[in-house]
Amino acid sequence: MSWGWQFFNALLILGILHNACVQGLGVNWGTVSSHRLPPEIVIQLLKDNGIQKVKIFDADPTILNALAGSGLEVMIATTNLELADMTDFSKAKEWVQNNVIKYNINSKDGVNITYVAVGNEPFLKDYKDRFTSVTAPALKNIQDALNEAGVGKTTKATIPFNGDVYYSPDYKPLPSAGIFRPDIADKMREILKILNENNAPFIVNIYPFLSLYYGRNFPLDYAFFNGAAPLIDGNIQYTNVLDANLDTLVSALKAEGYPNMPIIVGEIGWPTDGDGNANVTLAQRFYQGLIKHLASNQGSPLHPGYLEVYLFGLFDEDAKSILPGNFERSWGIFKYDGQPKFPLDFSGKGENNPLVAAKNVQYLPRNWCILKPDASNDTKIGENFNYACTNGADCTPLQAGSTCNFLDAKQKASYAFNSYFQVQNQVNMSCDFQGLAIVTSQDPSLPNCSFTIQISPYFAPGTTSHSSTKKKNAASASLPGALTFILAFVTVLAQLLL
Ligand SMILES: *[C@@H]1O[C@H](CO)[C@@H](O)[C@H](O)[C@H]1NC(C)=O
Ligand SMILES: *[C@@H]1O[C@H](CO)[C@@H](O)[C@H](O)[C@H]1NC(C)=O
Ligand SMILES: *[C@@H]1O[C@H](CO)[C@@H](O)[C@H](O)[C@H]1NC(C)=O
Ligand SMILES: *[C@@H]1O[C@H](CO)[C@@H](O)[C@H](O)[C@H]1NC(C)=O
Ligand SMILES: *[C@@H]1O[C@H](CO)[C@@H](O)[C@H](O)[C@H]1NC(C)=O
Repeated sequence: MSWGWQFFNALLILGILHNACVQGLGVNWGTVSSHRLPPEIVIQLLKDNGIQKVKIFDADPTILNALAGSGLEVMIATTNLELADMTDFSKAKEWVQNNVIKYNINSKDGVNITYVAVGNEPFLKDYKDRFTSVTAPALKNIQDALNEAGVGKTTKATIPFNGDVYYSPDYKPLPSAGIFRPDIADKMREILKILNENNAPFIVNIYPFLSLYYGRNFPLDYAFFNGAAPLIDGNIQYTNVLDANLDTLVSALKAEGYPNMPIIVGEIGWPTDGDGNANVTLAQRFYQGLIKHLASNQGSPLHPGYLEVYLFGLFDEDAKSILPGNFERSWGIFKYDGQPKFPLDFSGKGENNPLVAAKNVQYLPRNWCILKPDASNDTKIGENFNYACTNGADCTPLQAGSTCNFLDAKQKASYAFNSYFQVQNQVNMSCDFQGLAIVTSQDPSLPNCSFTIQISPYFAPGTTSHSSTKKKNAASASLPGALTFILAFVTVLAQLLL
């Protein structure tokens, strides 16, 4: 045994390598929740799990101040609504000053801001060209401002795009035939030129779960990283949709003259509730397969080697729009309170390591709100149920295909009343429902359907109101448009495979 090997074993025994995370792995930290964990707790959670990179959907100073000195690499963002302003160079300079330079990015005590995402999926078809003309100028101004401030070599401006900006136009949509969508191809050319001049990466969000959700004939195994019959493209065999999708992008970039542009996957993940295929078993299979795939450093056939990836997402977010589907609030690897949902080995070495849970989480008291046992007016119960579900309660677990769908009508009312009561921080008035409801200290949870206690409201330093009153419009709008591309891509793909 060599000394090096013994040293390695010693590290293992000491547990030093225990939570080493696969190289390049990052997470998306979304905040569209009724209750947010304090940033300090989240940062400790990231460190405890060996996660080195984090992506946020804005430039929230509460989060950035807490990240100072953490050593984590951070991708911040301007929202789509800020893009128009960023077409004015003086405003872009001001933005960079206030959201990047201010954080002392090249100091150990500062925030290591490696990327600025300029908008989020601005060319989604659903946006109907609202951001089409402002995106490239905004990107150029932000990068120019970073360059002018002297940080352009270490902080890159880029744009997270949805997979619907490229596709494969053939009857058989083979990855090798990938091109950019004709309606935005001109704008894309301007953007690629700016990215290339600054050695900035192309960012794409890829969702195998949505391929399955929207492609009725999509073969389930093809969403994962084992067991799928291959798609044949020339002498290449694709056995997972991530590689095929990524290579469609590589082909599109090559067709524009950028065969070597760096690519980052900005979002990828699997939800655990809200759909028949959104459960913990499949989520674990997906993540473990993905991380193993990344750890192998094999890459895809046209993009071999290392791939930087940001998982979506860190936590469940109970205030997200469910327009894309009932699964939209259940993308977290961790629950709303930082408890892991399943074992996951972030090192990619195949052990079923438990994830480390959030520490020092403060909860509201152990009180639940339920329907009074003698409540009998079904009409009135129904009306109040609807009121709760349309006023902040998260009723997605009650829907068809979700975890708590098996409850009877009265239990469902209790579930909704409790969710509403927790969102309202258990204030007494919020457990009334026209006299139908009552507070209890007996946990009404059933096996496989948990009635939650919310975490204590978080007061950001220097504010008086808690964060649940702020509803951020971050990733919530990002999903529905993914489908245009995925539909086109996967339905034909399914025909090919079956
Ligand atoms: C920021 O992260 C990059 C990428 O890992 C690293 O090269 C650089 O040294 C870090 N900067 C600081 C100040 O820690
Ligand atoms: C998860 O979903 C798959 C596919 O729908 C199903 O076969 C499996 O039984 C589900 N697992 C659990 C634990 O619900
Ligand atoms: C049941 O509730 C409905 C709606 O709140 C109300 O109109 C009706 O009078 C109630 N029925 C009885 C028997 O109390
Ligand atoms: C809420 O109700 C509980 C139990 O009835 C009572 O002890 C408490 O003082 C009430 N709180 C408020 C703010 O009314
Ligand atoms: C809970 O879910 C698990 C996994 O789907 C299942 O095996 C078990 O039977 C369920 N328990 C109850 C009480 O429904």
